[in-house]
Amino acid sequence: MLQDKIEQYSQEIQQFAPTSAADVEAFRLKFLVSKGIVKALFEEFKTVSSDEKRVLGKVLNEFKQLAERKFEEAQTSFSIEVKENQRSEGDLTLPGEGFQLGSRHPISLVRKEIVEIFKKLGFVVAEGPEIEDDWHNFSALNFAPEHPARDMQDTFFIKKQEGNDIALRTHTSSVQVRLMEAGKPPFRALMPGRVYRNEAISARAHCFFHQVEGLYVDENVSFADLKQTLFHFVQELYGEGTKVRFRPSYFPFTEPSAEMDISCTICKGAGCNLCKYSGWVEILGCGMVDPNVLENCGIDSKKYSGFAFGMGVERITNLKYVIKDLRLFSENDTRFLSQFETELL
Ligand code: DAH
Repeated sequence: MLQDKIEQYSQEIQQFAPTSAADVEAFRLKFLVSKGIVKALFEEFKTVSSDEKRVLGKVLNEFKQLAERKFEEAQTSFSIEVKENQRSEGDLTLPGEGFQLGSRHPISLVRKEIVEIFKKLGFVVAEGPEIEDDWHNFSALNFAPEHPARDMQDTFFIKKQEGNDIALRTHTSSVQVRLMEAGKPPFRALMPGRVYRNEAISARAHCFFHQVEGLYVDENVSFADLKQTLFHFVQELYGEGTKVRFRPSYFPFTEPSAEMDISCTICKGAGCNLCKYSGWVEILGCGMVDPNVLENCGIDSKKYSGFAFGMGVERITNLKYVIKDLRLFSENDTRFLSQFETELL
């Protein structure tokens, strides 16, 4: 009879006192699996008369809950015990697990080094937004309306706006404008930051990279000041005896403009792959701030003059550590990054 069986199994369950995890598993296999007793009793329940069903339905459900509750209780007590056993079995004589420290990114290392050199000359650090308007990125810097750098190919535009498009800044020169608009001369600032250009990614070009901009505006600032400042910078960064040379160039925001080369850091000028056998490598652009730029920023160009320069941090880093593929900087490959662990922080 179904009722007898239920009573008999209930008693067995109530008396169940497992002494191992195996006992608990045996209980589960006997009562709770699909071929177990609980399921079988429910099958049998289908065959009894409807009078019996009325009485036994509730009893059978309670029986099922009893079996499940007992199993859960037994299981939790044994799983805790099992974990404790495992813990105490650990071999305390094994060496501890060391944890790995991260390291500074080479770009951060070099940016910091550049900043430190100029700080000693009295330059302060200034920053500006990466999302810029046309005025700060181009117009105030004396870019003619049809200048090719405004072309869609170079600039990531965010929003077209009548006369003042919003875009990702293409250079840190935009921060010069923000700085001069917001204050009064003298300015002596260094402006590090990330810049964006719409270029296909390759070993030699990337759609984002880092620059450090410099600006010095005061009364009577001359090209000689520019040359001496940058010469000092190069001696500090690449070592005494590194030669510099200036080549005439063009930037809309400086007049006159120049590009500065240094004697090749690898072959010291003898000629190698890196300098394409010329003995020289270009490291930055510079010049005297164009009077139009000063006026655009509300500064009297008759009273004040200044110099500016801008360099790519990736380029400076490549020369310092001889890294040939720009993509390494943004791939987060720890085999590359861990090589800088020992550098000074
Ligand atoms: N903004 C220029 C560039 O991205 C670099 C530069 C050149 C900055 C000359 C300057 C400068 O301040 O005077 O290529």
